[in-house]
Amino acid sequence: MKGSIIIATAIGILSPCIEALTLQQRTTGAPRVVRFDIERREVQDPAARDSLRRRGTASATLDNLLTDQVTLYFANATLGTPAQTLRLHIDTGSSDLWVNTPTSTLCSSQGECDTAGTYTANSSSTYSYVSSDFNISYVDGSGASGDYVTDTITFGTTTLDDLQFGIGYESSSAQGILGIGYEVNEVQVSRVGKSAYQNLPAKLVADSVIASNAYSLWLDDLASSTGSILFGGVDKAKYTGSLQTLPIQQYGGQYSEFLVTMTGITMGGATVAENLAEPVLFDSGSSLTYLPDSITESIYESVSAQYSAEDGTAFVPCSLANSNSTIDFTFSSPVISVPMDEMVITVYSSTGRQLTFTDGTDACLFGIAPSGSGVNVFGDTFLRSAYVVFDLDNNEISIAQTNFSATTSDILEIASGTAGVPGATAVTDSVAATGISSTDDTSSSILGSINATSTVYTLPMYG
Ligand SMILES: *[C@@H]1O[C@H](CO)[C@@H](O)[C@H](O)[C@H]1NC(C)=O
Ligand SMILES: *[C@@H]1O[C@H](CO)[C@@H](O)[C@H](O)[C@H]1NC(C)=O
Ligand SMILES: *[C@@H]1O[C@H](CO)[C@@H](O)[C@H](O)[C@H]1NC(C)=O
Ligand SMILES: *[C@@H]1O[C@H](CO)[C@@H](O)[C@H](O)[C@H]1NC(C)=O
Ligand SMILES: *[C@@H]1O[C@H](CO)[C@@H](O)[C@H](O)[C@H]1NC(C)=O
Ligand SMILES: *[C@@H]1O[C@H](CO)[C@@H](O)[C@H](O)[C@H]1NC(C)=O
Repeated sequence: MKGSIIIATAIGILSPCIEALTLQQRTTGAPRVVRFDIERREVQDPAARDSLRRRGTASATLDNLLTDQVTLYFANATLGTPAQTLRLHIDTGSSDLWVNTPTSTLCSSQGECDTAGTYTANSSSTYSYVSSDFNISYVDGSGASGDYVTDTITFGTTTLDDLQFGIGYESSSAQGILGIGYEVNEVQVSRVGKSAYQNLPAKLVADSVIASNAYSLWLDDLASSTGSILFGGVDKAKYTGSLQTLPIQQYGGQYSEFLVTMTGITMGGATVAENLAEPVLFDSGSSLTYLPDSITESIYESVSAQYSAEDGTAFVPCSLANSNSTIDFTFSSPVISVPMDEMVITVYSSTGRQLTFTDGTDACLFGIAPSGSGVNVFGDTFLRSAYVVFDLDNNEISIAQTNFSATTSDILEIASGTAGVPGATAVTDSVAATGISSTDDTSSSILGSINATSTVYTLPMYG
Protein backbone atom coordinates (compact mmCIF):
# COMPACT_ATOMS: atom_id res chain seq x y z
CA MET A 1 0.00 0.00 0.00
CA LYS A 2 3.01 2.14 0.05
CA GLY A 3 2.43 3.19 -3.48
CA SER A 4 -1.10 2.32 -3.08
CA ILE A 5 -4.04 4.31 -4.02
CA ILE A 6 -6.88 3.73 -1.73
CA ILE A 7 -10.04 4.18 -3.61
CA ALA A 8 -12.99 5.09 -1.53
CA THR A 9 -15.65 3.91 -3.77
CA ALA A 10 -18.08 1.61 -2.37
CA ILE A 11 -16.85 -0.57 -5.09
CA GLY A 12 -19.50 -2.98 -4.00
CA ILE A 13 -16.93 -3.81 -1.47
CA LEU A 14 -15.88 -6.02 0.50
CA SER A 15 -16.01 -6.22 4.12
CA PRO A 16 -13.45 -8.89 4.54
CA CYS A 17 -14.13 -12.12 6.17
CA ILE A 18 -11.32 -14.54 6.07
CA GLU A 19 -11.82 -18.22 5.99
CA ALA A 20 -9.55 -20.26 8.14
CA LEU A 21 -6.03 -20.33 6.95
CA THR A 22 -4.89 -23.82 6.41
CA LEU A 23 -1.46 -25.16 6.94
CA GLN A 24 -0.83 -28.13 4.79
CA GLN A 25 0.41 -30.72 7.22
CA ARG A 26 4.03 -31.48 6.76
CA THR A 27 3.77 -35.15 6.19
CA THR A 28 6.20 -36.87 3.90
CA GLY A 29 5.91 -35.47 0.42
CA ALA A 30 3.25 -32.94 1.36
CA PRO A 31 3.99 -29.42 0.22
CA ARG A 32 5.08 -26.97 2.89
CA VAL A 33 2.73 -24.11 2.20
CA VAL A 34 0.59 -21.73 4.21
CA ARG A 35 -2.62 -20.51 2.68
CA PHE A 36 -4.85 -17.57 3.49
CA ASP A 37 -8.34 -17.89 2.08
CA ILE A 38 -10.00 -14.55 1.63
CA GLU A 39 -13.69 -13.92 1.56
CA ARG A 40 -15.34 -10.71 0.48
CA ARG A 41 -18.73 -9.21 1.21
CA GLU A 42 -20.38 -6.25 -0.40
CA VAL A 43 -21.00 -3.18 1.67
CA GLN A 44 -22.79 -0.11 0.58
CA ASP A 45 -21.28 3.28 0.34
CA PRO A 46 -22.90 5.29 3.09
CA ALA A 47 -21.74 8.61 1.72
CA ALA A 48 -22.52 8.39 -1.95
CA ARG A 49 -25.52 9.97 -3.52
CA ASP A 50 -27.74 8.50 -6.14
CA SER A 51 -26.46 10.22 -9.23
CA LEU A 52 -23.23 11.38 -10.68
CA ARG A 53 -22.65 14.85 -11.90
CA ARG A 54 -20.80 15.76 -15.00
CA ARG A 55 -17.26 16.87 -14.50
CA GLY A 56 -16.66 20.38 -13.42
CA THR A 57 -19.29 20.32 -10.76
CA ALA A 58 -18.81 20.15 -7.05
CA SER A 59 -17.57 16.96 -5.58
CA ALA A 60 -17.52 15.61 -2.09
CA THR A 61 -14.66 13.76 -0.59
CA LEU A 62 -15.34 10.32 0.67
CA ASP A 63 -12.33 10.08 2.88
CA ASN A 64 -14.40 9.04 5.81
CA LEU A 65 -14.68 5.83 3.89
CA LEU A 66 -10.97 5.46 3.48
CA THR A 67 -10.50 4.11 6.93
CA ASP A 68 -11.05 0.44 6.60
CA GLN A 69 -13.67 -0.77 4.22
CA VAL A 70 -12.08 0.31 1.01
CA THR A 71 -9.07 -1.90 0.72
CA LEU A 72 -9.94 -5.24 -0.58
CA TYR A 73 -7.92 -8.09 0.76
CA PHE A 74 -7.57 -8.91 4.42
CA ALA A 75 -6.50 -11.70 6.70
CA ASN A 76 -7.32 -12.43 10.33
CA ALA A 77 -4.53 -13.14 12.75
CA THR A 78 -3.92 -13.02 16.46
CA LEU A 79 -0.97 -11.50 18.30
CA GLY A 80 0.27 -12.12 21.81
CA THR A 81 -0.49 -14.37 24.75
CA PRO A 82 -3.38 -14.57 25.39
CA ALA A 83 -4.38 -13.98 21.78
CA GLN A 84 -5.52 -10.53 20.65
CA THR A 85 -7.51 -10.63 17.41
CA LEU A 86 -6.65 -8.42 14.44
CA ARG A 87 -7.79 -7.99 10.89
CA LEU A 88 -4.87 -7.15 8.61
CA HIS A 89 -4.76 -5.70 5.14
CA ILE A 90 -2.43 -7.77 2.96
CA ASP A 91 -0.08 -5.47 1.08
CA THR A 92 2.59 -6.50 -1.40
CA GLY A 93 3.62 -2.84 -1.66
CA SER A 94 5.08 -2.51 1.85
CA SER A 95 7.14 -4.71 4.13
CA ASP A 96 6.19 -4.16 7.76
CA LEU A 97 3.38 -5.69 9.76
CA TRP A 98 1.96 -3.07 12.08
CA VAL A 99 -1.09 -2.78 14.26
CA ASN A 100 -2.92 -0.14 16.21
CA THR A 101 -3.11 0.13 19.97
CA PRO A 102 -6.27 1.17 21.84
CA THR A 103 -4.63 4.11 23.60
CA SER A 104 -3.64 6.10 20.49
CA THR A 105 -5.52 9.31 19.88
CA LEU A 106 -7.12 7.75 16.81
CA CYS A 107 -8.24 4.54 18.48
CA SER A 108 -9.38 6.20 21.71
CA SER A 109 -12.12 7.87 19.76
CA GLN A 110 -15.24 5.84 19.80
CA GLY A 111 -15.29 2.66 17.79
CA GLU A 112 -12.66 3.90 15.37
CA CYS A 113 -10.43 0.84 15.48
CA ASP A 114 -13.03 -1.77 16.41
CA THR A 115 -13.31 -3.40 12.99
CA ALA A 116 -9.61 -3.92 12.45
CA GLY A 117 -8.77 -4.60 16.09
CA THR A 118 -5.97 -3.39 18.34
CA TYR A 119 -3.02 -4.81 20.26
CA THR A 120 -1.98 -3.99 23.82
CA ALA A 121 1.64 -4.90 24.44
CA ASN A 122 1.38 -4.98 28.22
CA SER A 123 -1.47 -7.47 28.05
CA SER A 124 0.77 -10.04 26.41
CA SER A 125 3.16 -12.25 28.38
CA THR A 126 5.16 -12.98 25.22
CA TYR A 127 5.66 -9.33 24.21
CA SER A 128 9.18 -7.99 23.94
CA TYR A 129 10.29 -4.42 23.18
CA VAL A 130 12.72 -3.95 20.26
CA SER A 131 13.08 -0.23 19.56
CA SER A 132 11.19 2.99 19.08
CA ASP A 133 12.16 3.17 15.41
CA PHE A 134 8.81 2.31 13.93
CA ASN A 135 7.50 5.12 11.71
CA ILE A 136 5.76 4.31 8.43
CA SER A 137 3.97 6.60 6.02
CA TYR A 138 1.96 5.66 2.98
CA VAL A 139 1.41 7.48 -0.26
CA ASP A 140 -2.16 8.27 0.65
CA GLY A 141 -0.85 10.40 3.51
CA SER A 142 -1.71 7.97 6.28
CA GLY A 143 0.90 6.58 8.61
CA ALA A 144 1.80 5.29 12.02
CA SER A 145 4.71 5.51 14.41
CA GLY A 146 5.73 3.97 17.70
CA ASP A 147 7.62 0.87 18.81
CA TYR A 148 8.96 -2.16 17.10
CA VAL A 149 8.27 -5.20 19.24
CA THR A 150 8.23 -8.95 18.93
CA ASP A 151 5.44 -11.28 19.92
CA THR A 152 3.74 -14.49 18.91
CA ILE A 153 1.55 -14.43 15.80
CA THR A 154 -1.04 -17.06 14.95
CA PHE A 155 -2.99 -17.33 11.73
CA GLY A 156 -5.07 -20.39 11.09
CA THR A 157 -3.06 -23.27 12.47
CA THR A 158 0.31 -21.59 12.00
CA THR A 159 2.07 -19.98 14.95
CA LEU A 160 5.33 -18.09 14.79
CA ASP A 161 7.17 -16.95 17.92
CA ASP A 162 8.99 -13.64 18.18
CA LEU A 163 7.81 -12.06 14.96
CA GLN A 164 8.83 -8.41 14.77
CA PHE A 165 6.15 -5.83 14.00
CA GLY A 166 5.27 -2.22 14.63
CA ILE A 167 2.79 -0.67 17.05
CA GLY A 168 1.18 2.60 16.04
CA TYR A 169 1.19 4.57 19.28
CA GLU A 170 0.52 7.45 16.95
CA SER A 171 -1.59 6.53 13.97
CA SER A 172 -3.77 8.02 11.29
CA SER A 173 -5.01 4.72 9.90
CA ALA A 174 -7.48 2.51 11.72
CA GLN A 175 -6.45 -0.47 9.62
CA GLY A 176 -3.42 -2.58 10.51
CA ILE A 177 -1.29 -3.62 7.55
CA LEU A 178 0.48 -6.87 6.79
CA GLY A 179 3.25 -5.80 4.43
CA ILE A 180 4.87 -8.77 2.72
CA GLY A 181 7.36 -7.06 0.41
CA TYR A 182 11.16 -7.03 0.41
CA GLU A 183 12.84 -6.73 3.80
CA VAL A 184 14.93 -3.82 2.49
CA ASN A 185 11.74 -1.77 2.49
CA GLU A 186 11.13 -2.22 6.19
CA VAL A 187 11.17 1.19 7.75
CA GLN A 188 13.90 0.18 10.17
CA VAL A 189 16.08 -0.31 7.09
CA SER A 190 14.85 2.39 4.73
CA ARG A 191 14.43 5.13 7.32
CA VAL A 192 16.74 4.27 10.17
CA GLY A 193 19.47 2.47 8.25
CA LYS A 194 19.49 -0.57 10.51
CA SER A 195 19.80 -4.05 9.11
CA ALA A 196 16.67 -5.95 8.16
CA TYR A 197 14.58 -8.13 10.42
CA GLN A 198 12.67 -11.18 9.24
CA ASN A 199 9.22 -10.02 8.21
CA LEU A 200 6.41 -12.54 7.88
CA PRO A 201 7.40 -14.34 4.67
CA ALA A 202 11.08 -14.36 5.65
CA LYS A 203 10.24 -15.70 9.11
CA LEU A 204 8.11 -18.48 7.61
CA VAL A 205 11.26 -19.58 5.77
CA ALA A 206 13.58 -19.11 8.75
CA ASP A 207 11.27 -21.25 10.89
CA SER A 208 11.12 -23.91 8.14
CA VAL A 209 7.37 -23.57 7.68
CA ILE A 210 8.00 -22.97 3.97
CA ALA A 211 11.06 -23.70 1.85
CA SER A 212 11.47 -20.47 -0.11
CA ASN A 213 10.58 -16.81 0.34
CA ALA A 214 7.98 -16.83 -2.40
CA TYR A 215 4.21 -16.72 -2.47
CA SER A 216 1.37 -16.87 -4.96
CA LEU A 217 -1.50 -14.41 -5.14
CA TRP A 218 -4.84 -15.49 -6.54
CA LEU A 219 -7.59 -12.93 -6.21
CA ASP A 220 -10.13 -14.60 -8.51
CA ASP A 221 -12.67 -12.56 -10.40
CA LEU A 222 -14.64 -9.50 -9.35
CA ALA A 223 -17.81 -11.49 -8.98
CA SER A 224 -16.19 -13.96 -6.65
CA SER A 225 -15.87 -13.58 -2.93
CA THR A 226 -12.83 -15.75 -2.54
CA GLY A 227 -9.15 -15.49 -3.17
CA SER A 228 -6.02 -16.73 -1.54
CA ILE A 229 -2.40 -16.09 -0.90
CA LEU A 230 -0.23 -19.16 -0.75
CA PHE A 231 3.08 -18.77 1.03
CA GLY A 232 5.71 -21.20 -0.23
CA GLY A 233 3.54 -22.74 -2.90
CA VAL A 234 1.84 -22.63 -6.28
CA ASP A 235 -1.68 -23.88 -6.97
CA LYS A 236 -1.51 -25.26 -10.49
CA ALA A 237 -5.29 -25.57 -10.72
CA LYS A 238 -5.80 -21.82 -10.46
CA TYR A 239 -4.36 -20.72 -13.79
CA THR A 240 -4.37 -21.68 -17.45
CA GLY A 241 -1.35 -22.17 -19.69
CA SER A 242 1.99 -22.11 -17.92
CA LEU A 243 3.75 -19.79 -15.52
CA GLN A 244 6.29 -17.54 -17.22
CA THR A 245 9.02 -15.92 -15.23
CA LEU A 246 10.09 -12.29 -15.50
CA PRO A 247 13.01 -10.60 -13.76
CA ILE A 248 12.02 -8.05 -11.14
CA GLN A 249 13.46 -4.67 -12.11
CA GLN A 250 15.80 -3.00 -9.68
CA TYR A 251 15.09 0.40 -8.26
CA GLY A 252 17.89 2.55 -6.88
CA GLY A 253 20.32 -0.27 -7.62
CA GLN A 254 18.52 -2.85 -5.54
CA TYR A 255 15.53 -5.14 -5.51
CA SER A 256 13.04 -3.39 -3.35
CA GLU A 257 9.69 -3.27 -5.15
CA PHE A 258 7.70 -5.69 -7.30
CA LEU A 259 8.47 -3.88 -10.55
CA VAL A 260 8.33 -5.67 -13.90
CA THR A 261 8.38 -4.44 -17.50
CA MET A 262 5.16 -4.00 -19.46
CA THR A 263 5.81 -3.89 -23.21
CA GLY A 264 2.45 -3.49 -24.88
CA ILE A 265 -1.33 -3.19 -24.63
CA THR A 266 -4.06 -4.22 -27.02
CA MET A 267 -7.82 -3.84 -26.71
CA GLY A 268 -10.16 -6.13 -28.53
CA GLY A 269 -7.19 -7.09 -30.69
CA ALA A 270 -6.30 -3.49 -31.64
CA THR A 271 -2.96 -2.09 -30.57
CA VAL A 272 -3.14 0.62 -27.94
CA ALA A 273 0.59 0.85 -27.29
CA GLU A 274 3.59 -1.24 -28.30
CA ASN A 275 7.35 -1.43 -27.94
CA LEU A 276 7.07 -0.10 -24.44
CA ALA A 277 9.55 -0.61 -21.62
CA GLU A 278 7.32 0.66 -18.84
CA PRO A 279 8.11 -0.26 -15.26
CA VAL A 280 4.91 -1.36 -13.56
CA LEU A 281 4.40 -2.14 -9.90
CA PHE A 282 2.34 -5.17 -8.85
CA ASP A 283 0.59 -3.90 -5.74
CA SER A 284 -2.23 -5.76 -4.02
CA GLY A 285 -2.72 -2.69 -1.83
CA SER A 286 -3.98 -0.64 -4.77
CA SER A 287 -7.56 -1.02 -5.92
CA LEU A 288 -7.15 0.38 -9.42
CA THR A 289 -4.58 0.11 -12.20
CA TYR A 290 -2.59 3.26 -13.04
CA LEU A 291 -1.17 3.59 -16.56
CA PRO A 292 0.71 6.38 -18.36
CA ASP A 293 -1.60 9.28 -19.14
CA SER A 294 -1.45 8.97 -22.93
CA ILE A 295 -2.27 5.26 -22.85
CA THR A 296 -5.05 5.85 -20.35
CA GLU A 297 -6.47 8.49 -22.63
CA SER A 298 -6.53 6.09 -25.60
CA ILE A 299 -8.29 3.47 -23.55
CA TYR A 300 -10.82 6.01 -22.27
CA GLU A 301 -11.60 7.00 -25.84
CA SER A 302 -12.15 3.40 -26.86
CA VAL A 303 -14.58 2.71 -24.06
CA SER A 304 -16.19 6.19 -23.93
CA ALA A 305 -15.08 6.68 -20.36
CA GLN A 306 -15.90 10.00 -18.78
CA TYR A 307 -12.85 11.26 -16.95
CA SER A 308 -13.15 13.49 -13.94
CA ALA A 309 -9.97 15.49 -13.40
CA GLU A 310 -10.88 16.26 -9.82
CA ASP A 311 -11.37 12.62 -9.11
CA GLY A 312 -8.39 11.40 -11.07
CA THR A 313 -10.46 8.57 -12.42
CA ALA A 314 -13.21 7.81 -14.89
CA PHE A 315 -16.72 6.46 -15.12
CA VAL A 316 -18.22 4.29 -17.84
CA PRO A 317 -21.71 3.08 -18.63
CA CYS A 318 -22.14 -0.13 -16.67
CA SER A 319 -23.24 -1.87 -19.86
CA LEU A 320 -19.57 -1.93 -20.85
CA ALA A 321 -19.38 -4.99 -18.62
CA ASN A 322 -21.42 -6.87 -21.25
CA SER A 323 -18.71 -6.36 -23.82
CA ASN A 324 -16.80 -9.48 -24.73
CA SER A 325 -13.72 -7.39 -25.31
CA THR A 326 -10.54 -7.73 -23.29
CA ILE A 327 -7.60 -5.50 -22.47
CA ASP A 328 -4.43 -7.48 -23.01
CA PHE A 329 -1.16 -6.58 -21.32
CA THR A 330 2.11 -7.95 -22.70
CA PHE A 331 5.17 -8.45 -20.49
CA SER A 332 7.94 -9.07 -23.06
CA SER A 333 6.27 -12.37 -23.97
CA PRO A 334 3.47 -13.48 -21.62
CA VAL A 335 0.12 -11.78 -22.08
CA ILE A 336 -2.45 -11.28 -19.35
CA SER A 337 -5.90 -10.75 -20.75
CA VAL A 338 -8.25 -8.74 -18.57
CA PRO A 339 -11.93 -9.23 -19.46
CA MET A 340 -13.75 -5.91 -19.75
CA ASP A 341 -16.20 -6.79 -17.00
CA GLU A 342 -13.27 -6.94 -14.58
CA MET A 343 -12.66 -3.25 -15.29
CA VAL A 344 -16.22 -2.13 -14.68
CA ILE A 345 -16.86 -1.61 -10.99
CA THR A 346 -20.31 -1.07 -9.61
CA VAL A 347 -20.66 1.89 -7.30
CA TYR A 348 -23.59 1.96 -4.94
CA SER A 349 -25.31 4.79 -3.16
CA SER A 350 -26.27 4.93 0.47
CA THR A 351 -29.64 3.55 -0.36
CA GLY A 352 -28.15 0.71 -2.32
CA ARG A 353 -29.08 2.22 -5.64
CA GLN A 354 -26.95 2.11 -8.71
CA LEU A 355 -25.23 5.41 -9.48
CA THR A 356 -26.29 7.01 -12.72
CA PHE A 357 -25.08 9.62 -15.13
CA THR A 358 -27.29 12.67 -15.42
CA ASP A 359 -29.02 11.15 -18.46
CA GLY A 360 -30.08 8.21 -16.35
CA THR A 361 -27.56 5.71 -17.69
CA ASP A 362 -26.08 3.47 -15.03
CA ALA A 363 -22.57 4.67 -14.14
CA CYS A 364 -19.74 2.43 -13.05
CA LEU A 365 -16.20 3.19 -11.98
CA PHE A 366 -13.59 2.25 -14.58
CA GLY A 367 -10.65 0.18 -13.36
CA ILE A 368 -7.87 2.19 -15.03
CA ALA A 369 -6.70 5.65 -14.02
CA PRO A 370 -3.83 7.88 -15.19
CA SER A 371 -0.53 7.52 -13.33
CA GLY A 372 0.45 11.13 -13.99
CA SER A 373 3.99 11.76 -12.88
CA GLY A 374 3.92 8.71 -10.64
CA VAL A 375 4.81 5.08 -11.11
CA ASN A 376 2.50 2.74 -13.04
CA VAL A 377 0.64 0.58 -10.57
CA PHE A 378 -1.05 -2.69 -11.45
CA GLY A 379 -3.58 -3.02 -8.66
CA ASP A 380 -6.46 -5.34 -8.06
CA THR A 381 -8.35 -4.56 -11.28
CA PHE A 382 -5.40 -6.12 -13.13
CA LEU A 383 -4.25 -8.63 -10.53
CA ARG A 384 -7.56 -10.47 -10.40
CA SER A 385 -6.94 -11.72 -13.95
CA ALA A 386 -3.40 -12.87 -13.22
CA TYR A 387 -1.98 -15.66 -11.15
CA VAL A 388 1.18 -14.09 -9.76
CA VAL A 389 4.09 -15.75 -7.98
CA PHE A 390 6.26 -13.26 -6.11
CA ASP A 391 9.67 -14.91 -5.71
CA LEU A 392 11.67 -12.68 -3.36
CA ASP A 393 14.53 -15.14 -3.04
CA ASN A 394 15.26 -15.06 -6.78
CA ASN A 395 13.97 -11.57 -7.62
CA GLU A 396 11.50 -12.92 -10.13
CA ILE A 397 7.80 -12.76 -10.77
CA SER A 398 6.03 -15.60 -12.56
CA ILE A 399 2.66 -14.93 -14.15
CA ALA A 400 -0.09 -16.86 -15.86
CA GLN A 401 -3.68 -16.20 -16.84
CA THR A 402 -6.02 -16.91 -13.94
CA ASN A 403 -8.61 -19.61 -14.44
CA PHE A 404 -11.72 -17.90 -13.12
CA SER A 405 -13.59 -21.19 -13.27
CA ALA A 406 -11.11 -23.07 -11.10
CA THR A 407 -12.81 -25.17 -8.47
CA THR A 408 -10.03 -27.55 -7.59
CA SER A 409 -6.61 -27.26 -6.01
CA ASP A 410 -3.29 -28.74 -7.03
CA ILE A 411 -0.76 -27.32 -4.64
CA LEU A 412 2.96 -27.74 -5.18
CA GLU A 413 5.74 -26.51 -2.95
CA ILE A 414 8.16 -23.83 -4.17
CA ALA A 415 11.59 -25.33 -3.63
CA SER A 416 14.52 -23.36 -2.29
CA GLY A 417 17.24 -22.22 -4.68
CA THR A 418 16.87 -21.01 -8.24
CA ALA A 419 14.11 -22.19 -10.54
CA GLY A 420 12.14 -23.36 -7.53
CA VAL A 421 8.74 -22.31 -8.87
CA PRO A 422 7.24 -25.55 -10.21
CA GLY A 423 6.41 -25.54 -13.90
CA ALA A 424 7.62 -21.99 -14.52
CA THR A 425 9.76 -21.16 -17.53
CA ALA A 426 11.96 -18.10 -17.82
CA VAL A 427 11.04 -15.52 -20.46
CA THR A 428 13.98 -15.20 -22.80
CA ASP A 429 14.97 -11.74 -23.99
CA SER A 430 12.87 -9.98 -21.39
CA VAL A 431 12.92 -6.22 -21.83
CA ALA A 432 14.57 -4.03 -19.22
CA ALA A 433 12.36 -1.23 -17.94
CA THR A 434 13.42 2.30 -18.72
CA GLY A 435 12.85 5.37 -16.65
CA ILE A 436 13.74 3.83 -13.33
CA SER A 437 16.43 5.76 -11.54
CA SER A 438 19.55 3.63 -11.28
CA THR A 439 21.26 5.91 -8.86
CA ASP A 440 20.90 5.76 -5.13
CA ASP A 441 18.00 8.05 -4.72
CA THR A 442 17.28 7.85 -1.05
CA SER A 443 15.48 11.16 -0.95
CA SER A 444 12.31 9.91 -2.47
CA SER A 445 10.79 6.69 -3.52
CA ILE A 446 9.24 6.53 -6.96
CA LEU A 447 6.23 5.41 -5.07
CA GLY A 448 6.22 8.62 -3.17
CA SER A 449 5.78 10.47 -6.39
CA ILE A 450 2.33 9.13 -7.07
CA ASN A 451 0.18 12.19 -7.32
CA ALA A 452 -1.29 12.49 -3.88
CA THR A 453 -4.41 14.07 -5.27
CA SER A 454 -5.19 10.74 -6.85
CA THR A 455 -5.08 8.95 -3.57
CA VAL A 456 -8.33 10.22 -2.25
CA TYR A 457 -11.13 9.36 -4.53
CA THR A 458 -13.90 11.89 -4.69
CA LEU A 459 -17.22 11.00 -6.08
CA PRO A 460 -19.02 13.64 -8.09
CA MET A 461 -22.31 14.37 -6.46
CA TYR A 462 -25.59 15.16 -8.04
CA GLY A 463 -28.01 17.46 -6.35
C1 LIG B 1 -12.29 -12.55 10.65
O1 LIG B 1 -12.58 -11.49 11.52
C2 LIG B 1 -13.85 -10.91 11.31
C3 LIG B 1 -13.98 -9.72 12.23
O2 LIG B 1 -13.76 -10.09 13.54
C4 LIG B 1 -14.93 -11.95 11.54
O3 LIG B 1 -16.18 -11.39 11.23
C5 LIG B 1 -14.69 -13.13 10.65
O4 LIG B 1 -15.63 -14.15 10.93
C6 LIG B 1 -13.30 -13.66 10.85
N1 LIG B 1 -13.08 -14.75 9.93
C7 LIG B 1 -12.66 -15.94 10.36
C8 LIG B 1 -12.54 -16.99 9.32
O5 LIG B 1 -12.34 -16.16 11.50
C1 LIG C 1 3.87 -1.29 30.20
O1 LIG C 1 3.94 -1.29 31.60
C2 LIG C 1 5.10 -0.70 32.12
C3 LIG C 1 5.12 -0.90 33.62
O2 LIG C 1 3.87 -0.52 34.19
C4 LIG C 1 5.14 0.79 31.74
O3 LIG C 1 6.32 1.38 32.22
C5 LIG C 1 5.09 0.89 30.25
O4 LIG C 1 4.99 2.24 29.85
C6 LIG C 1 3.91 0.14 29.67
N1 LIG C 1 4.04 0.11 28.25
C7 LIG C 1 3.08 0.49 27.46
C8 LIG C 1 3.39 0.41 26.01
O5 LIG C 1 2.00 0.89 27.85
C1 LIG D 1 7.61 10.04 11.54
O1 LIG D 1 8.01 10.49 10.26
C2 LIG D 1 7.33 11.65 9.84
C3 LIG D 1 7.68 11.91 8.40
O2 LIG D 1 9.06 11.78 8.20
C4 LIG D 1 7.69 12.79 10.77
O3 LIG D 1 7.01 13.95 10.37
C5 LIG D 1 7.27 12.41 12.19
O4 LIG D 1 7.68 13.42 13.08
C6 LIG D 1 7.87 11.09 12.59
N1 LIG D 1 7.29 10.69 13.85
C7 LIG D 1 8.01 10.32 14.88
C8 LIG D 1 7.28 9.97 16.13
O5 LIG D 1 9.25 10.27 14.85
C1 LIG E 1 -20.65 -12.03 -25.95
O1 LIG E 1 -20.54 -13.44 -26.08
C2 LIG E 1 -21.76 -14.12 -25.78
C3 LIG E 1 -21.48 -15.60 -25.83
O2 LIG E 1 -20.62 -15.92 -26.87
C4 LIG E 1 -22.84 -13.69 -26.76
O3 LIG E 1 -24.05 -14.33 -26.45
C5 LIG E 1 -23.02 -12.19 -26.64
O4 LIG E 1 -23.95 -11.75 -27.61
C6 LIG E 1 -21.70 -11.45 -26.86
N1 LIG E 1 -21.91 -10.05 -26.55
C7 LIG E 1 -21.46 -9.09 -27.36
C8 LIG E 1 -21.74 -7.69 -26.88
O5 LIG E 1 -20.85 -9.31 -28.36
C1 LIG F 1 -1.48 16.23 -9.55
O1 LIG F 1 -2.81 16.25 -10.01
C2 LIG F 1 -3.36 17.56 -10.07
C3 LIG F 1 -4.82 17.44 -10.42
O2 LIG F 1 -5.00 16.55 -11.48
C4 LIG F 1 -2.55 18.39 -11.08
O3 LIG F 1 -3.04 19.70 -11.12
C5 LIG F 1 -1.10 18.42 -10.64
O4 LIG F 1 -0.33 19.08 -11.61
C6 LIG F 1 -0.57 16.99 -10.46
N1 LIG F 1 0.77 17.05 -9.90
C7 LIG F 1 1.74 16.30 -10.36
C8 LIG F 1 3.04 16.43 -9.66
O5 LIG F 1 1.60 15.52 -11.30
C1 LIG G 1 -10.33 -24.19 -15.33
O1 LIG G 1 -10.88 -24.80 -14.18
C2 LIG G 1 -11.96 -25.67 -14.47
C3 LIG G 1 -12.56 -26.12 -13.15
O2 LIG G 1 -11.58 -26.59 -12.27
C4 LIG G 1 -11.46 -26.82 -15.33
O3 LIG G 1 -12.53 -27.68 -15.63
C5 LIG G 1 -10.87 -26.24 -16.61
O4 LIG G 1 -10.31 -27.29 -17.38
C6 LIG G 1 -9.80 -25.22 -16.30
N1 LIG G 1 -9.39 -24.58 -17.53
C7 LIG G 1 -8.15 -24.68 -18.01
C8 LIG G 1 -7.91 -24.03 -19.32
O5 LIG G 1 -7.26 -25.26 -17.41
